[in-house]
Amino acid sequence: MNSLKIGDLNIKVPIIQGGMGIGVSLSGLASAVANQGGIGVISAVAIGMTEPGYQKHFRKSNQSALRNEIRKARLKTNGVIGVNIMMAVTDFDDLLRVSLEEKVDVVIIGAGLPLKVPATIGLSAFKKTKTKFIPKVSSARAAKLIFKHWSEKYNCIPDAIMIEGALAGGHLGFKKKELENPQSSLSEIVKETVDAISIYERQYGREIPVIAGGGIYTGKDMYNIINAGASGVVMGTRFVTTEECDVSEKFKLNYINSSKDDITLISSPVGLPGRVITNDFVEEIKQGKQKPVKCAWKCLKTCDYKKVQFCVAEALYNATQGNFQQGFSFAGTKAYMAEKITTVKETFDSIKKEYLQEENKYELSLMA
Ligand SMILES: Cc1cc2nc3c(=O)[nH]c(=O)nc-3n(C[C@H](O)[C@H](O)[C@H](O)COP(=O)(O)O)c2cc1C
Repeated sequence: MNSLKIGDLNIKVPIIQGGMGIGVSLSGLASAVANQGGIGVISAVAIGMTEPGYQKHFRKSNQSALRNEIRKARLKTNGVIGVNIMMAVTDFDDLLRVSLEEKVDVVIIGAGLPLKVPATIGLSAFKKTKTKFIPKVSSARAAKLIFKHWSEKYNCIPDAIMIEGALAGGHLGFKKKELENPQSSLSEIVKETVDAISIYERQYGREIPVIAGGGIYTGKDMYNIINAGASGVVMGTRFVTTEECDVSEKFKLNYINSSKDDITLISSPVGLPGRVITNDFVEEIKQGKQKPVKCAWKCLKTCDYKKVQFCVAEALYNATQGNFQQGFSFAGTKAYMAEKITTVKETFDSIKKEYLQEENKYELSLMA
């Protein structure tokens, strides 16, 4: 298994743990993953929801909680730590600024196309920072658009690109119809992306790793997608059922007790489909039942709280705390594969073992 190089960062095991909100991946999980040689990622979305006074001061609470979690992670590891920020949130610029001030190694930007350098940061600070930028998109077309725009406008390009395919957990960058009947596999999108950005690798004289995820659960999945041209993988669902994952035990058990058919799609107020584990709350949403929405702050750029059917931030937060009467958990298509709660080290060991088995099988097949 080759290490993953992102500029001057050398990631021994090419696994990036997916940033998982709200409060699913914080310093506990991120530092444990970083200690195993991967990239541990803190999810910044609504991270301050547990802070007192959040309803009144959500921006400040999110900033201070993010700063604390980054610092706590740094105390537990010397490994590589990243922050995942959704472009769809109204305090995106603040969260990015805090991440840069705290000198995180990597920022992953999802749920939107990062085409503009935020004014609160400024182009020169943006270009000088050692923090690596990794946009997360779902097609080669979107990847190319970002590279073209950054290159023409700012004379620089992202440090890597993350492709999230149709099988992932959480919000998805596909239309519901595309998810029900996917046109391209993750391998195909990876190949197209490698091809689409190669022109920028030549222009800027450096390698741009393509990191791929969405349904990558085993070492075999990882081996196959790396063979298709990815330099690393992103795995979210697999890390939920670890001891170190920052979410409640009830949330982890919800994964373990789920079956393949329990994993389903909903329409989220973010304006994207989301993949979740079903329960009564989810079924009621699907039947069109209105849930009470009290919006004390506007967390999503796209959400009109007077019109939405439910508050996605509250629903996800409630589930994080183990309250599934008023919430649901995001989960990838393979969440049902979890059998028990394990440690992050055991998870890494098993993925590496399976990966090596696949590699050996392939080498043996060449000799046969
Ligand atoms: C519980 C959960 C919460 C997630 N929350 C976020 C999030 O806040 N922001 C984001 O960009 N992606 C989020 N994701 C997506 C992950 O970062 C990652 O891209 C995805 O989990 C990879 O697919 P997999 O779940 O099949 O491994 C979430 C995924 C899960 C399972």
